[in-house]
Amino acid sequence: MRQVAMSAIRVTYSTPHPVLPHRSDLPLLLNRRGLVGCGAEVGVKRGEYSEVLLESWNGRHLISIDPWLSAPETDYLDVANVAQETHDRYYEETLNRLARFGERSTVWRMTGSEAADRIPAHCLDFVYLDARHDYVSVTQDLDAWIEKVRPGGILAGHDYLDGTFAEGRFGVKSAVDDFCAARGLPVRATFADPPWRSWHVVIP
Ligand SMILES: C[S@@+](CC[C@H](N)C(=O)[O-])C[C@H]1O[C@@H](n2cnc3c(N)ncnc32)[C@H](O)[C@@H]1O
Repeated sequence: MRQVAMSAIRVTYSTPHPVLPHRSDLPLLLNRRGLVGCGAEVGVKRGEYSEVLLESWNGRHLISIDPWLSAPETDYLDVANVAQETHDRYYEETLNRLARFGERSTVWRMTGSEAADRIPAHCLDFVYLDARHDYVSVTQDLDAWIEKVRPGGILAGHDYLDGTFAEGRFGVKSAVDDFCAARGLPVRATFADPPWRSWHVVIP
């Protein structure tokens, strides 16, 4: 299915706000634009997307951030909110999965907001947000991370949809749309991976 989409659509990475088929195309966009310094993934789980990024992106350093900490369901309704033993296992799995990338990979076991406090403004080439999916949390992440991305860099994230599903309660699309509309930033969504699309904006 994805191969059909990719062969039928020619992605023009040089347009100001390119549309990507799938989130696995994000590293190619970053490479084409010379965004090959430091980036971050916020919300990592088992490290699978960090691995995709590190395999295809030519960047120097990826920071993979997740507290791997269980929360009450009333606070965090999401399939990613697992028992603490499972979080501990996912953390170990992430360390093992990313070990082969050596110094290109750093894993920070802390929340996104704790991590953002340690990162200077405008020093990242990209940030990919995939932590909590409710409207308020996504807005907080956008607020915390947009200023970390350098002009010309990319702020992106997963699960660009709204609604209550078996996987949890999602307000990502409306949070991203409201946040970006208020700043005049055009949002681009992937098209080959519904319903779990990714979104991105180019930071002016
Ligand atoms: C959907 S999973 C991430 C999946 C991963 N990005 C991937 O594509 O393979 C969401 C993750 O966000 C983490 N998370 C929850 N609250 C967080 C926070 N405040 N900061 C960072 N990560 C958080 C959860 O522990 C969970 O592992």
